[in-house]
Amino acid sequence: MQRKLVIALPVLVVVLIGAFQIFSGEKRPDDANMASLRQQAARRRAAALEAEQRAKTDLALLAMQGRGQELPEYLVSEIDREGNFWFVGKADSAAGVQIPFAPGKLPLPPADIEPLHPNPGFLGAEACRDCHADKYESFIHTAHHRTTRLASPDEVAGSFEDGSNRMNTKYPNVFFTMDQRGNDLFQSVHFFDWGFEVPFHIVIGSSKMAESYLYWHGDQLFQMNCTHLTDRDEWINSPGFIDGDAIYARPIRSGCLDCHVTYVDYRKSANHYTPKSMILGISCERCHGPGKEHVDYHVANPEVKESRHMKVPSKLSRQAQMDVCGQCHTTKKAPIDEQAFRFRPGDKLSDHYETIPGKEEALNSVHTSNQVGRLSLSQCFQKSEMGCVECHDPHRNERGNLKLFSKRCLECHQQEHCGMNEQLGNRLSDNCIDCHMPVRASETLQVETGNGNIFPPLRDHFIRVDQQATDEWLQQSSR
Ligand code: HEC
Ligand code: HEC
Ligand code: HEC
Ligand code: HEC
Ligand code: HEC
Ligand code: HEC
Ligand code: HEC
Repeated sequence: MQRKLVIALPVLVVVLIGAFQIFSGEKRPDDANMASLRQQAARRRAAALEAEQRAKTDLALLAMQGRGQELPEYLVSEIDREGNFWFVGKADSAAGVQIPFAPGKLPLPPADIEPLHPNPGFLGAEACRDCHADKYESFIHTAHHRTTRLASPDEVAGSFEDGSNRMNTKYPNVFFTMDQRGNDLFQSVHFFDWGFEVPFHIVIGSSKMAESYLYWHGDQLFQMNCTHLTDRDEWINSPGFIDGDAIYARPIRSGCLDCHVTYVDYRKSANHYTPKSMILGISCERCHGPGKEHVDYHVANPEVKESRHMKVPSKLSRQAQMDVCGQCHTTKKAPIDEQAFRFRPGDKLSDHYETIPGKEEALNSVHTSNQVGRLSLSQCFQKSEMGCVECHDPHRNERGNLKLFSKRCLECHQQEHCGMNEQLGNRLSDNCIDCHMPVRASETLQVETGNGNIFPPLRDHFIRVDQQATDEWLQQSSR
């Protein structure tokens, strides 16, 4: 997906330049093309008119707040062939803007529409609270639960304070500011003397590494240009975005939500959804199956103490367990026919997702470190019945507790069997992890920023003897 975007964006720039040539009359189409060009122009006019009508309420609001900004004459704009996106640029600059709403307008509020399809029974973690309070209370602190949530001043990690709320690009005339009015948050684009703002609606990413942000435009969901990097407490370009462009038209496809929300009603390609159907966070039900039948049954039959209509991954075969986590932690590709949220515990992953043959062992997938594929290469995995829950309790946030994880290694291993035991003695036992599952930054996970590129570090699940990691460990601990 990363690679596709990197290819897609230069194409965008080419499209943009092409558009300017037509715009400025430099490229004269021959007669044979005129008919189709006229048709295209008519389609574009119709799309522009429709967008304008849809945006009327926004305009009124803008005017009221004095935020409307007509496009100045020295900037040029063009609509893409399908009438979905506007490009804005300046003849003597490579910087560009791509937005799904007309220049001078703002995104539409989330569409208040009814779902196209019935919800297959997903309820969200809240629905489990009454009867599984212990699980619920610890679960809400996990990265799974927090991976998507509504944007609010408390939930966005980056700064909105004057001075640190600005993201520069390589062009001095193109920058972004993060602005707050009451509880509403905005990314404001400053493009030469022109600009506009886009509201933060949804935070994606628990922010252990980074948070990115999504916004609604009617029934369409888009990613915002600026992402927040946790480590450096810095605003950066979203992964795959080109520094110096302001891109607010990257559609959030169903595959992206399949891994980051519990459920949403998908209307049509590429990014049309029913906003109010969305259940944020990855809830219990992505591992246990939709909860409605189970909850209805136990509410109606409080005397029954055995569970009905609910699946527990650890009672499935190991392959089936791996497939549950593999919905989101492998190199699998997009959901077949874009139909996300169809997988149920016990199903085969390949019945729901296209796979990439030969990539099972890859170090990375999307922006994860392909834990299923990498773990499968390990002797630990091949010579035992180990699954993911041997080390991870999905109901708790245990991140950073390497001592606890090391204890789990010692369920199967004895410290004495480690070749370093003689040299290090009890210093081993607190941290088997950094030597045998080191954190590695990968060149395929590249994020462009104004001050160079960033490679998010992720833990390698191929458990093995790693001399380089050992040397690093020894160096660090002698300091
Ligand atoms: C009205 C009460 C009630 C609600 C609400 C409820 N459960 Fe349960 N659940 C039970 C009972 C009773 C059991 C059986 C006893 C036990 O294992 O705790 C159970 C057991 C389970 C089990 C273990 C199944 C097994 O075979 O061991 C899972 C998993 C589970 N529930 C998940 C959920 C999820 C997920 C939700 C929310 C979508 C939920 N439950 C909501 C009552 C409820
Ligand atoms: C529906 C998608 C999905 C499923 C299914 C899923 N995960 Fe995840 N998992 C994620 C996402 C997304 C993140 C990253 C969340 C974040 O940081 O924003 C994550 C993060 C994690 C983390 C890191 C937590 C941390 O705090 O560092 C662990 C461990 C993990 N998952 C284990 C599992 C295991 C084990 C399973 C199967 C039992 C599983 N996941 C199933 C999507 C999923
Ligand atoms: C195949 C499943 C999958 C898809 C598709 C996917 N993600 Fe993720 N995403 C993950 C997992 C798993 C992690 C956690 C990485 C890890 O811990 O290995 C993650 C991490 C993240 C993070 C960083 C969270 C943190 O822990 O700080 C962000 C932000 C993010 N994803 C955004 C997106 C966006 C935006 C899209 C769509 C354009 C997307 N993801 C598509 C599975 C996925
Ligand atoms: C990432 C996947 C995942 C998520 C999310 C998840 N579980 Fe589980 N759950 C599991 C797995 C795997 C097991 C089996 C654990 C084991 O055997 O060690 C399990 C076991 C259980 C059990 C029965 C065994 C026990 O420990 O009592 C209950 C009940 C349960 N989960 C409820 C919930 C509830 C409620 C939530 C949400 C608040 C939830 N789970 C979220 C994967 C998940
Ligand atoms: C479920 C049991 C189990 C767990 C948990 C487990 N291992 Fe293993 N591990 C094994 C088995 C079995 C082997 C194969 C070695 C053998 O045949 O004696 C192995 C092999 C290894 C090897 C040798 C690898 C090689 O390529 O020669 C290392 C190193 C190792 N484990 C480290 C770890 C670490 C570190 C952890 C915790 C993060 C861990 N193991 C957790 C069962 C386990
Ligand atoms: C300082 C780095 C370091 C730490 C910490 C460490 N190991 Fe090792 N481990 C190594 C190295 C290096 C080897 C290979 C030694 C050799 O072949 O002489 C090794 C070998 C092993 C082996 C393979 C033995 C064999 O011959 O197949 C196992 C199993 C193992 N370690 C488990 C652990 C466990 C469990 C822990 C935590 C209690 C741990 N290690 C902590 C570096 C480390
Ligand atoms: C042998 C133990 C072990 C097994 C088995 C294991 N993990 Fe992990 N995993 C770890 C350790 C240790 C970490 C690092 C935790 C930390 O830094 O706090 C980790 C981290 C993660 C993370 C966070 C990624 C990151 O780089 O921060 C994810 C996601 C994850 N595991 C998913 C899985 C999935 C999915 C499986 C099953 C395919 C799995 N793990 C199996 C030990 C294990």
